[in-house]
Amino acid sequence: MVELEIVKWVSLVLAVVIISMFDGSYAAFNPVDNYLIACGSSRNVTFQGKLFVPDSQQSSFVLKSQGDTAIVTSNSNSNVPSPIFQSARIFPAITSYKFDIHQQGRHWVRLYFFPLPNSGNDLESAPITVVTDKFVLINNFTFKNYNGSYLFKEYSVNVTSDTLTLSFIPFNNLVSFVNAIEVVSVPDELIPDQALPVSQSAPSHGLSALAFETVYRLNMGGPLITPQNDTLGRIWENDAKYLHVNSSAVNMSVNPATIKYPQSLVPEIAPNWVYATVDTMGDANVANLNFNMTWVLPVDPNYMYFVRVHFCDIVSKAMNSLVFNVYINSDIAFPSLDLSTVTGGLGVPYYKDFTSNTTMDSDTLNVGVGPDTAIDPPNAIMNGLEVLKISNDVRSLDGLSSVEGLLPELASKKHKVWIIVGLVVGCFTAVVFIALCYCCFIARRSKSSPQGHAWLALPLYGNSQTMTKNSTISQKSGTASCISLASSNFGRFFMFQEITDATNKFDESLLLGVGGFGRVYKGTLDDGTNVAVKRGNPRSEQGIAEFRTEIEMLSKLRHRHLVSLIGYCDERSEMILVYEYMANGPLRSHLYGTDLPPLSWKQRLEVCIGAARGLHYLHTGAAQSIIHRDVKTTNILLDENYVAKVADFGLSKTGPALDQTHVSTAVKGSFGYLDPEYFRRQQLTEKSDVYSFGVVLMEVLCTRPALNPVLPREQVNIAEWAMSWQKKGMLDQIMDPILVGKVNQASLKKFGETAENCLAEYGVDRPTMGDVLWNLEYALQLEETSSALTEPDDNSTNHIPGIPLTPIQPFDNSVSMIDGVTSGTDDDGEDAATSAVFSQLVNPRGR
Ligand SMILES: *[C@@H]1O[C@H](CO)[C@@H](O)[C@H](O)[C@H]1NC(C)=O
Ligand SMILES: *[C@@H]1O[C@H](CO)[C@@H](O)[C@H](O)[C@H]1NC(C)=O
Ligand SMILES: *[C@@H]1O[C@H](CO)[C@@H](O)[C@H](O)[C@H]1NC(C)=O
Ligand SMILES: *[C@@H]1O[C@H](CO)[C@@H](O)[C@H](O)[C@H]1NC(C)=O
Ligand SMILES: *[C@@H]1O[C@H](CO)[C@@H](O)[C@H](O)[C@H]1NC(C)=O
Ligand SMILES: *[C@@H]1O[C@H](CO)[C@@H](O)[C@H](O)[C@H]1NC(C)=O
Ligand SMILES: *[C@@H]1O[C@H](CO)[C@@H](O)[C@H](O)[C@H]1NC(C)=O
Ligand SMILES: *[C@@H]1O[C@H](CO)[C@@H](O)[C@H](O)[C@H]1NC(C)=O
Ligand SMILES: *[C@@H]1O[C@H](CO)[C@@H](O)[C@H](O)[C@H]1NC(C)=O
Repeated sequence: MVELEIVKWVSLVLAVVIISMFDGSYAAFNPVDNYLIACGSSRNVTFQGKLFVPDSQQSSFVLKSQGDTAIVTSNSNSNVPSPIFQSARIFPAITSYKFDIHQQGRHWVRLYFFPLPNSGNDLESAPITVVTDKFVLINNFTFKNYNGSYLFKEYSVNVTSDTLTLSFIPFNNLVSFVNAIEVVSVPDELIPDQALPVSQSAPSHGLSALAFETVYRLNMGGPLITPQNDTLGRIWENDAKYLHVNSSAVNMSVNPATIKYPQSLVPEIAPNWVYATVDTMGDANVANLNFNMTWVLPVDPNYMYFVRVHFCDIVSKAMNSLVFNVYINSDIAFPSLDLSTVTGGLGVPYYKDFTSNTTMDSDTLNVGVGPDTAIDPPNAIMNGLEVLKISNDVRSLDGLSSVEGLLPELASKKHKVWIIVGLVVGCFTAVVFIALCYCCFIARRSKSSPQGHAWLALPLYGNSQTMTKNSTISQKSGTASCISLASSNFGRFFMFQEITDATNKFDESLLLGVGGFGRVYKGTLDDGTNVAVKRGNPRSEQGIAEFRTEIEMLSKLRHRHLVSLIGYCDERSEMILVYEYMANGPLRSHLYGTDLPPLSWKQRLEVCIGAARGLHYLHTGAAQSIIHRDVKTTNILLDENYVAKVADFGLSKTGPALDQTHVSTAVKGSFGYLDPEYFRRQQLTEKSDVYSFGVVLMEVLCTRPALNPVLPREQVNIAEWAMSWQKKGMLDQIMDPILVGKVNQASLKKFGETAENCLAEYGVDRPTMGDVLWNLEYALQLEETSSALTEPDDNSTNHIPGIPLTPIQPFDNSVSMIDGVTSGTDDDGEDAATSAVFSQLVNPRGR
């Protein structure tokens, strides 16, 4: 009893502490590094509520000039636009400011320039070039052909060392200058590493290593927000002048105090003033599909852009009454955004990040919103919009010169020697470090994994008996070293020699397939058993993690409809998996793109039923369900008797624990099969597999790829295309012509309905794998009884003569699939091939 009381008290105290910490984080952001410098000034300057101190008085940064010392100019001229421009520092030679950085991560670098008249130099024509240690910020800018009176630039760079150097580089005997500099810490949450790419070449991740320049920051329907009103000192301007049609928008506002920030969104993302004002559709009741609000932003077409849209539903009276599309250029960047569903309430801020380039034919970036037709009255809103330029391949935000090209002395001989020495030492240290980490990682994983998966109350594939002998041998040979997986129940351990013997030294003629993970070979073991040998590509980064996942998952699962793992080999840092051999290869190769004989309807139903059984077992066979995450026709393999087995568990995740309804995770999987709900909300449930399985069903019926970019737009995505025919009850119009007239109508109808249910927009509306299985079995039964009663009739009613059938164009994705077992994850390849049709595949509404 006493103990219980203590526990109660401790948790109460903890809760109080946590809550107060939480409250604290709502206070204004306090940057660790906060340099505000009035260059060349002799006194402190207050500007926009910030205190700028003279650069001559700072001790925590160093001003280093080559050759002549920098000149200072001060001017009490009243013509300057603001006090911050009353002084400048002028650089006749390359000069650097070096800042001590106390907290690594993103920092604002803000630069202020104004060509002071009568400073003794012609600052109007002074070329301005500024670089950081890694990035070119401005290159050869002059005020000569510039319309504004002053120049303000804001950059965000990720500082990964404990200093930041800003170098000013004057050219051919002209001076350079600057009036004021800010170097200020940015909260880590502000700019993510990932964003949704809208155009093909736009990056989706790796953003943290790039530099950004703010080009637009707009407060829709609201006033100018000055740095005083933004904890991160940003400026948000009114959007009106960028509206394509200015009557298309009407502004609205609420009291900023009513904005409810969710826990997942720190108030630093944008001040409540941004979320409290909004542009809504000017004539919201126009039921014209093309009616939208678009902002047209002139940008430099040679760069990629990071686009952040801010939303907060302050206009609706009820939940789910505002659903709209977000467009970037002519693409649907976010289809059917239902704000109240994603935020769980009204007046709750939400934002989304994209990467994109400019429109095809003009130097503008167009961002727009338009109503979703399904909702009445139609409306769309936007609260804020940020557009940041992303540094290019030479790490420049201005031109094609790199820092190395602009700071030639970096490459001088004296430095070179040190660079080489440094590189050698660095590489050596890195290799040692990586090796150590890897060992620790593996050691920890293999120790903890039996515990971590205690819930898997399933027959273990290989138990210690089968492998003890082999693993002792491997330890004796000494090559398996500390990364050996042998201590846990991971199936049979193969020696590398056995593998090379089985595959005839990885003979290319035995190659079954190639994918992101590596190559798959057919092999024959000593006892004559055929196996499929998947050899990981050591350079594949995702490899190690997926290798582990696959071994862990597969070695603990055994089912007639799951491909069995026989063993593995991790000798000599190889990552090799040995599977049972599936003689008839992937299901997809029996549908299209090959010369293999087509499967009959009954065979197709049996294959689908087999795969459904495998997935049903994954979802329900264990104490905690397993979500496959990459269900597709290349991951369903057929053995010599055409028994379907589900393969490729590299992406699998264990399902939600009992107290959760979903698993939050970064979106992975294959385009064309991706559950739109998972895509939107990044919440993974078993129903995501059900959706992908629905795509498989449609593929089996229509014998065409899930995505086929060469088809007309409305046909590209099979889910959308087949659903539109299924809804009309005319699925037979697009089905495999070979089946026409040879399929029992009731069976086809049942099949179509099952696929339709699987492809339901919302997970809750989709059946479980168990229901799918039941329905498919029923469809098979209908087919079997009918074929027992009547002979198939070529003039059967399910083909209406005179209506042409859709041409089927075999389209092979970039994954080379020769025969036999599918390769590892091929996301990367498919990404490239399919993101051209991004707008279709992110549009989950089949219409
Ligand atoms: C400028 O401000 C700093 C910090 O508030 C202060 O220490 C310093 O004395 C001030 N300098 C001048 C010249 O006013
Ligand atoms: C800078 O631009 C001027 C024209 O504005 C050009 O004449 C000059 O060559 C450029 N300098 C460099 C180093 O690119
Ligand atoms: C500067 O202003 C002139 C006239 O107002 C305009 O024609 C020109 O395009 C402007 N240039 C820039 C770079 O904005
Ligand atoms: C932007 O991306 C699209 C799609 O990848 C490409 O077709 C277009 O040429 C790109 N535009 C520019 C200006 O680079
Ligand atoms: C900055 O870069 C480092 C190293 O690349 C990375 O670990 C860190 O997450 C980045 N920080 C931000 C805020 O992007
Ligand atoms: C909102 O619209 C009204 C007229 O429609 C206009 O007078 C007002 O300036 C606008 N407010 C802002 C902040 O744009
Ligand atoms: C900005 O802050 C000032 C005072 O700091 C306040 O008077 C003003 O109303 C604020 N305006 C906006 C739009 O936030
Ligand atoms: C657009 O707005 C400007 C002022 O911002 C106004 O003069 C003009 O008449 C408006 N045009 C239309 C079509 O409403
Ligand atoms: C937005 O509306 C304009 C006409 O107002 C139309 O030309 C354009 O195609 C629409 N954009 C989208 C993405 O629907």
